[in-house]
Amino acid sequence: MDNFMQMTKKLGHRPELLRLAALDATYDDALGGNLVLAPVGMSEPGKRILDAGTADGTWLRGVRSKQSAQHDYYGSDIEGELFPENADGITYFAHSFKDPWPEKYHGIFDLVHIRGSMAGSAPEGPALVIKNLLPLLKPGSWVQLMEMNGSSPPKNGPAMTDFAKMAIEMFTFIGAGDFANDNARLLKEAGFQNVQERRVLVNLGKMAKPELHDVSIHGVTGPIVPLTSVARTNASCSFTHEQLDALPGRVKDELEIQGGQIEAIIAFGQKE
Ligand SMILES: C[S@@+](CC[C@H](N)C(=O)[O-])C[C@H]1O[C@@H](n2cnc3c(N)ncnc32)[C@H](O)[C@@H]1O
Repeated sequence: MDNFMQMTKKLGHRPELLRLAALDATYDDALGGNLVLAPVGMSEPGKRILDAGTADGTWLRGVRSKQSAQHDYYGSDIEGELFPENADGITYFAHSFKDPWPEKYHGIFDLVHIRGSMAGSAPEGPALVIKNLLPLLKPGSWVQLMEMNGSSPPKNGPAMTDFAKMAIEMFTFIGAGDFANDNARLLKEAGFQNVQERRVLVNLGKMAKPELHDVSIHGVTGPIVPLTSVARTNASCSFTHEQLDALPGRVKDELEIQGGQIEAIIAFGQKE
């Protein structure tokens, strides 16, 4: 994963943050604007919400923009450089979700959310990250996890099928495993109650709404080049270097011409 991080850092953070905003708009549409699926009771004011692996806080701002009640929003990320210059009422702090959480945050949150960041749990994998969230939560409060299903994706054209195959080989290689499909089970194993899972199809390119045609392609294809760079270091990768070179262009063309779909898996569970 270091290779992935180094490549995105080398480009500067702005392109990656723009890509995350594009993916956020695509997910928001697929979820019908319901970014919080866990029954947190967002209509009552005074909830404390933490987004771990928040990057520049896009998800938090999206959630806040949809609430009539006032809540306190917190964002953490291993890369503090990603936080916006203007915190705009959100509390940001640098922290790796693999490490013990600062005691001042113990027992204060009504919802802890992680989206698209579980690859950062490698090489140990997500089980430890999920268990590590328990001290943050008030009794009866919720964790919500959302990741893209790479291992059993929807039926797509050949380029998107190769992209998914490359991604799952790469995630297995770095030790992150099949976290999207594992999160609900891991929440149960960590002792969370009332665990539920929702699967949402996300339309891309030609299959997306016209206003999300380019945005959805941008959101999904951005990480392919850095991912292929990690795939090159995997001796058991089933793709040749030439095939990896061609993959980003093939995926973009396929999404432009015929479109495609990904599946987002959202798992949530409640602390006893
Ligand atoms: C693909 S981005 C997703 C950002 C955001 N959650 C979203 O959905 O827009 C992954 C984020 O996870 C962060 N990350 C990676 N490893 C992490 C770790 N060990 N602890 C906290 N954040 C981590 C990265 O810095 C990056 O901001």
